Amino acid sequence: MHLRGTGTGCLRVTGSAAATGGDVVKTRERYNFDTIIDRKRTNSVKWDFCTCCDGAEDILPMWVADMDFQCPPEVCEAVMRTADHGVYGYSEMSDGYYEAIVGWLASRHAWRVSPQWLSYSPGVITGMNVAIQTFTAPGDKIILQSPVYPPFFASILNNGRRVVNNRLYVEDGEYRMDFDALEASIDDRTRMLLLCSPHNPVGRVWREDELARLADIALRHELLVFADEIHSDLVFPQFRHVPFASMSPEIADRTITGVAPSKTFNIAGLKASVIVTSNPRLRHAFDQAQERVFGLYTANVFAIAAAEAAYRHGGPWLDAALAYLQQNVSFTQEQLRSTVPRVTALEPQGTFLMWLDFSELGMTQDELRETIFCGARVGLNDGLSFGPGGEQHMRLNIGCPRSMVADGLARIASVVGQV
Ligand SMILES: Cc1ncc(COP(=O)(O)O)c(C=O)c1O
Repeated sequence: MHLRGTGTGCLRVTGSAAATGGDVVKTRERYNFDTIIDRKRTNSVKWDFCTCCDGAEDILPMWVADMDFQCPPEVCEAVMRTADHGVYGYSEMSDGYYEAIVGWLASRHAWRVSPQWLSYSPGVITGMNVAIQTFTAPGDKIILQSPVYPPFFASILNNGRRVVNNRLYVEDGEYRMDFDALEASIDDRTRMLLLCSPHNPVGRVWREDELARLADIALRHELLVFADEIHSDLVFPQFRHVPFASMSPEIADRTITGVAPSKTFNIAGLKASVIVTSNPRLRHAFDQAQERVFGLYTANVFAIAAAEAAYRHGGPWLDAALAYLQQNVSFTQEQLRSTVPRVTALEPQGTFLMWLDFSELGMTQDELRETIFCGARVGLNDGLSFGPGGEQHMRLNIGCPRSMVADGLARIASVVGQV
């Protein structure tokens, strides 16, 4: 058995191992996450559109949340089979596509959903915007908890709704939700809560007891919840993701959940997300809103093939990727401790993102940006874009070969060491 590059760069498993399944193949042989793949000039936002230090060509991009790994071989093959066909007419999702999603949610998260509950969306954030437009009115208040993925703010503000920010706080080495403050912030114009679970950028995988408290508040105050669970498959083995809607039938009734194969299998550019809504009234209203803009409710042929293959066959690849990512986390922590101990990161429980704390350097955010972007020439996400709580922080994407992580950290150490 060997891995062979195809003309298009996809790795194919050939020989007896392919016939007998992945169990006889050593993980490192089958999925080589150490391989550096040149992504420049591929229309990649991360590699071709990094503007953090104007005009600089030699920035190492560790910002946008996609990974620099090739996706599972079965996904590559499904996309190539589709491409080989050469006719790319109008598409529609088959029963097999829905069954693959339902099967994945059941086996991976013990979440039993019906195929009827699923709607397609090009992106989880698209789904969040449709939900905001459909279920709230201009001027309504929507809760988020910063620091949080920047489009949460934009989705509320762009639609003329008001942000209620219930800031996370740190206790015992992890970020927590302030439930008392959250409840106190609710008034008669508060309609919705945007939950980020697991939470980008702080890497929390919310525990069942935490989600139960949140569910209790949502029920008592009749809040709708949009649960962005796009990172739910990227959880390290010691932790368990609990789908918010699986907490109880009552909470399912007021929850719209966004999941996707995009982060999990590194296929974000294919635009295949899934909105899960068990409440038929909410689902009908959501689907109607999508139909009103025509074309938003159907995936393209490549997205359908890739999503189905990923959810059917991507499990072993994901397990291997998670093991590699967790080693990248340990490597990052060791490097920070030994080379730049004044830069720290709380241990992420999931995601491929690390939330770096630069506060001990005592710099302004402008100085920090200048130092990291133009001095170290590493493209990170500016902490301030994640809202209050993001000051003195930057987000580092470790979803890349370890040698790249080493390069990025060495670049940071070389400038921070001099501060
Ligand atoms: C929490 C969260 N939600 C949504 C997205 C983007 O999802 P989509 O491309 O499906 O809109 C990201 C991407 O980084 C994310 O971190």
